Amino acid sequence: MTRPIIIDTDPGQDDAVAILLALASPELDVVGITAVAGNVPLPLTEKNARIICELAGRPDMKVFAGASRPMVRDLVTAEYVHGKTGLDGPDLPEPTMPLQDQHGVDFIIETCRRQKITLCALGPLTNVALALNRAPDIASNIEEIVIMGGGLFEGGNTTPAAEFNIYVDPHAADVVFRSGIPIVVMPLDLTHTALTSRARVEAFRAIGTGPAIATAELLDFFERFDVEKYGTEGGPLHDPNVIAYLLKPELYKGRHINLEVEISSELTMGMTVADWWGVTKRPANCTYMRYVDDAGFFDLLIERIGKL
Ligand code: RIB
Ligand code: CA
Repeated sequence: MTRPIIIDTDPGQDDAVAILLALASPELDVVGITAVAGNVPLPLTEKNARIICELAGRPDMKVFAGASRPMVRDLVTAEYVHGKTGLDGPDLPEPTMPLQDQHGVDFIIETCRRQKITLCALGPLTNVALALNRAPDIASNIEEIVIMGGGLFEGGNTTPAAEFNIYVDPHAADVVFRSGIPIVVMPLDLTHTALTSRARVEAFRAIGTGPAIATAELLDFFERFDVEKYGTEGGPLHDPNVIAYLLKPELYKGRHINLEVEISSELTMGMTVADWWGVTKRPANCTYMRYVDDAGFFDLLIERIGKL
């Protein structure tokens, strides 16, 4: 029995690796991929999603363009991390597969009205929040929303308080965390322990296939910013944890807690106020993952992407 998912994404090198992992895993039925503005503007994130689908040998995949800007705030992008194209690193061909005509938000609504689904959110939550606001009825068909975003013990990576995906569209994140839908969070507290290393990157390159070599080249480029910033040997590989959780949940440990998003103070805008120690009586609204078996995570990535 395969698990139907929609991947909502702002590729981004780490998004790309997450998409490759999903397309390499028969347990998952990727019903569609919706692009959102985030790491780079929407025309690039939708194009990058198609580039990665073709790299995975899936030109049949349905890719949709969603929101080109956050719900309220102006778009903030991250070319300083991902490069001008958003997929700097490997030299990948321009996509030939089509972009779907339907808007990504309409696709999410239509799919959620038709079937049970899991949403995998790898970028700002704009598309997900717009779908929930426009069609609140879809919540009953969404089995889980698995999100890469936020942070508490690690603070933020975009401001001292906020992680990029939440910072870019805090109002969307607020909608999602208030939705009552089961949410699993992969925050910086976890992803900062899922670090690349020379050995791990070379393990991809040694596989010798197109997708595996491209993955090594994506990681070579992606890790440089965080290696420099944090002084670590490797960089945190954020987004693939969302997909790896669906495949091997036993790799992850966390707590069911309350999390609310700062949408008022400019100083802490986008901060995920996660009540890890249960000091408030606010009702739990997410499973906040804090620990990952990083060796198991990379073993899974190498094994699966090696099969593409
Ligand atoms: O903060 C890391 C997150 O922001 C990742 O999803 C990365 O791709 C960027 O979108
Ligand atoms: Ca992302």
